Amino acid sequence: MRAAGIDRFGGDVRPLDFDAPASPGPDEVVVAVRAAGVGNWDDIARTGGWDLGSQPPMALGVEAAGFVAEVGGTVRDFAVGDRVAVHSAPLRAQGAWAERFLAGAAEVAALPDEVDFATAAAFAVPSLTADQALRDAVELEDGQTLLVHGAGGVTGRLLVALGAHYGALVIATGSPSGAEALTAAGAAQVLSYSDSSWPETARELGIDCAVNAVPGQAALALTTVRDGGHLATITSDPPAPARGIRPTEVYVAPDGPRLAALLRLLAAGTLPLDVGARFSLPDAAEALAQVRRGTHGSAVVLTFG
Ligand SMILES: NC(=O)c1ccc[n+]([C@@H]2O[C@H](COP(=O)([O-])OP(=O)(O)OC[C@H]3O[C@@H](n4cnc5c(N)ncnc54)[C@H](OP(=O)(O)O)[C@@H]3O)[C@@H](O)[C@H]2O)c1
Repeated sequence: MRAAGIDRFGGDVRPLDFDAPASPGPDEVVVAVRAAGVGNWDDIARTGGWDLGSQPPMALGVEAAGFVAEVGGTVRDFAVGDRVAVHSAPLRAQGAWAERFLAGAAEVAALPDEVDFATAAAFAVPSLTADQALRDAVELEDGQTLLVHGAGGVTGRLLVALGAHYGALVIATGSPSGAEALTAAGAAQVLSYSDSSWPETARELGIDCAVNAVPGQAALALTTVRDGGHLATITSDPPAPARGIRPTEVYVAPDGPRLAALLRLLAAGTLPLDVGARFSLPDAAEALAQVRRGTHGSAVVLTFG
C-alpha cells in the first residue's frame, strides 16, 4: 500500500510502500483511509520524541477518517463500509499516512454524515486532547474561569470551545489577528500574548484553572492561576507544584466513544475545526513543513483518492 513516513528517526518524510495490514485481530478494525491529519505531534514522532511503538521504516500519522474495510471476529459496533474516524497510538502496524490503518475497535468512532473525512481526520487528536485536559486533568466545573494559553492553534481553539461548552468563562491568549475566531469559538476575553502584561491581567480576572498549549510556558501560565487552582499542560513542560496547584501533564489517549461524542458536537456546530490545507500523500513532507511553519489555527490534512 502507498504510505508516507520515515526511513530513520530525524529523517525527511518521503513516500514509502508497505504491505497492507494483515487480517485484523478479533477486536481490531482496518480503516480504508480517505484523509489523515497532520499535526506538530507528527514532527515529534518523526524525530523520535514520541515513541509510537514502531521502528523506521514506518508510516507516520496517528489520526484518520475513512471507511471500515475489515472487522475482527468480536467487533459488534462497526461493519464494513461504515464511515469512521480514529486516533490510535501506539501503532498496531503502520501509521495513518497510508491507504489502510489498523486500529482497535475501541479507538474508532462513528462519523456523522454531516462531517467530511478531512475535517474528521484533523479533529481526532486535538479534540481528544482538549477534552482530556479539561475533564480529566483540570476537572473543569460549570461556572469556573478557565485560561487557555496558546488558544490560537488547532488544539487551542478546541480548548476554548469545549471550555465554553462545559460552562466555563473562557479567557484566551492569542494574537490580535486571531481574536475574532477565538471569540466566535466562545472566549469571553482574548488577551494578546505579545503584550507582556497579559499574565497580570489574567491574574486579576481570577483564574480557577488553566490549560497551557505553548511549549515551555506552563510555568508562566501557572502564575495566573489562583491558589489551590488547577493547571494542565499539553506541551511536556510541567512546572513544580506551587501555592496548592499541582500541574498535570496531558498526553492524548485513544478513546473511540469519547471521540464519537466530540464528533457529534462538531456535527452540531458546537465545536470548530477549520481545514486550511489539503495535500496528497506524495506531498506529505510539504504538509508537515507547513505545520512546522505555523497555520494560525487551520488544520492540515492528507487526502486519499
Ligand atoms: N500532549 C498532547 O497529547 C498534545 C496533543 C495536541 C497538541 N499538543 C501540543 O500542543 C501545542 C499546541 O497544539 P496546537 O494543535 O494548538 O498547535 P498549532 O495549531 O500549531 O498552534 C500553535 C499556536 O500557538 C500560538 N502561539 C505561539 N506562540 C504563542 C505565545 N507565545 N503565546 C500564546 N500563543 C502562542 C499561535 O497562535 P497565533 O496563530 O494566534 O499566533 C499558534 O497558532 C503543540 O506544541 C502541540 O504539539 C500536545
